[in-house]
Amino acid sequence: MTPEQLLGLTAGFQTSCAVMAACELDLFSAIVDRGSADPETLAKALDLDGRGFSYLLAALASLDLLEIDDGKYRVPEALKPFLDSRSPRSVVPMIRHQANCARGWSQLAWTLKNGVPVPDVAGVNGALVEFQDFVLAMNVVANRLAPKIADSLRNVGLLDFERMLDLGGASGTYSFEFLAKNPNPSAKAVLFDRPAAIEEAKIKAKTALRGDSVEFYPGDFYVDPYPTDVDFVWISAIIHQQDDDATQTMFRKSFDALRPGGAIAVRDVYIRDDQTGPKAAAFFGLNMTVRTLKGKVYSARETISALEKAGFQNARLAIPADDMSAVVAAQKPAD
Ligand SMILES: C[S@@+](CC[C@H](N)C(=O)[O-])C[C@H]1O[C@@H](n2cnc3c(N)ncnc32)[C@H](O)[C@@H]1O
Repeated sequence: MTPEQLLGLTAGFQTSCAVMAACELDLFSAIVDRGSADPETLAKALDLDGRGFSYLLAALASLDLLEIDDGKYRVPEALKPFLDSRSPRSVVPMIRHQANCARGWSQLAWTLKNGVPVPDVAGVNGALVEFQDFVLAMNVVANRLAPKIADSLRNVGLLDFERMLDLGGASGTYSFEFLAKNPNPSAKAVLFDRPAAIEEAKIKAKTALRGDSVEFYPGDFYVDPYPTDVDFVWISAIIHQQDDDATQTMFRKSFDALRPGGAIAVRDVYIRDDQTGPKAAAFFGLNMTVRTLKGKVYSARETISALEKAGFQNARLAIPADDMSAVVAAQKPAD
């Protein structure tokens, strides 16, 4: 690698910060509303000081995220579905979530010295909007991944449940997709998440196919009992936020919630046993280091052992992958 390439590895932060700031300010939606607008009008509409704003607009235009016409800026037609925060295909919630993560990442060296995240200072939109952004960001990822994951689960015989528990199911994307692809037309899902996430899920359920087959269960899965009498527990992108003890308890409570013969599936990014990769697991491990007190990336082997310790049998890496689409699954013994 040349010195220029090395420096190129780190120069990207300025581009990231410019795009993240635009999304935190919801700049693209403000421009879409006006068709096109000059910097003064936009600064006023967004309640900005004005200093530096013309540079932001010019920087975004240099990245082809804006077009300039006679001193006015507009969003390219092809990008409107992704950059308008109100569009169903918008990626803005995920970019805002990245902006929230970036505050911790910018102090990674400090966190590695001290073992804890830097104290978080809320961004311009405040903590509640940050949580909503997080839930919607999960939905941006899940919208793309869920159809593929549902097909993979069906191929390995895990999609023919009668009543599933979606633990930390956020706005319900997986529940809706799994119900839509489940061969059993009377299948149901119970969505267990924090009350604010459940509110987002209720909105989505109104338009989702089989949305009326979802039961909502607001609460804290570290404190509250789990819904029982389920035959499938789906734990997607959850265990990485917690330590081994919490994961063991989560698997034990899932075991108790399941009917005999029921299945559990744990979707996550799994690190190799010697912690040497893959890349997505290494970077996600850093993300958990800067974002949580006890989060980590698990290896598939650790996850399988924890499931066996909780009483499950036939624990295996059911869907191998180098990224967040890997699934470890197991069965509760039939009576
Ligand atoms: C990384 S997201 C994963 C969302 C979804 N399962 C997916 O794969 O897209 C973690 C989810 O767990 C929920 N969650 C985290 N801690 C929780 C708790 N203590 N009780 C209930 N839900 C919790 C969050 O609100 C969030 O929706």
